[in-house]
Amino acid sequence: MLKIENLVTEYGAVRAIDGVSFTAAEGKITTVIGANGAGKSTLLRTISGLERAKSGQITWADKSLIGKAPESIVRSGIAHVPEGHAVISQLTVAENIEMGSLFRRRNFRSDVKLAIDEVYELFPRLAERSKQLAGTLSGGERQMLAISRALVSRPKLLLLDEPSLGLAPLVVEQIIQTVSDLCRKSGLTVLLVEQNANSALAVADYGVLLSLGKVVANLPAAELKADASLRAAYLGY
Ligand SMILES: Nc1ncnc2c1ncn2[C@@H]1O[C@H](COP(=O)(O)OP(=O)(O)OP(=O)(O)O)[C@@H](O)[C@H]1O
Ligand SMILES: [Mg+2]
Repeated sequence: MLKIENLVTEYGAVRAIDGVSFTAAEGKITTVIGANGAGKSTLLRTISGLERAKSGQITWADKSLIGKAPESIVRSGIAHVPEGHAVISQLTVAENIEMGSLFRRRNFRSDVKLAIDEVYELFPRLAERSKQLAGTLSGGERQMLAISRALVSRPKLLLLDEPSLGLAPLVVEQIIQTVSDLCRKSGLTVLLVEQNANSALAVADYGVLLSLGKVVANLPAAELKADASLRAAYLGY
């Protein structure tokens, strides 16, 4: 279980995360939704050690992550797919995927190969394009690659930052569905950040609504999805 308690993260005078508390249950999808600037990316960046928490506590598998370096957080089984389909353009698809295995907890060669085969099975489009340069992939394929690179580290917790950004609805459905299947099958815990609240809430178990760095709702996903007044107030539709 991932447990966040009274978390505060600031950029100078800007308090981007302002006393956030919630838990993400093991083997479940928790989605964090909210408008632009709500603090969603900052929350993920703080969990993965890319931003320093000003105060509060982050606990994963009964250990505090506060003050740990990003590499050691990856080794504890947490993989972060940042916003914006982040892949290395000058490397091939296969090379990008292999990079994800550098920070694995255990690095047996046979096990790495198995993990790579698994992501190709998950995203056959990438297998067909393994020698293609990542910079020439479509947006959707790049996002599949960014997720694959995270998955070969065999994470227990996957932090996904707006996988749907800039993608066609059909590709969004496919990516979110793949992550959801993975979660059900392998017990992966997922923290899914989305502006696209509908598709995220459709697959998630729990929904956390953020506004200006604060949690304004924390409900089973179906209840949050059904609450028209919350959506109107904080998401504008
Ligand atoms: N490096 C930074 N320096 C200063 N302020 C920052 C920095 N990064 C983010 N912020 C501010 O922190 C707040 C939260 O930003 P964050 O990126 O976490 O929002 P978000 O919910 O991910 O938004 P979006 O949906 O647009 O991606 C915003 O007001 C933003 O301007
Ligand atoms: Mg963001």
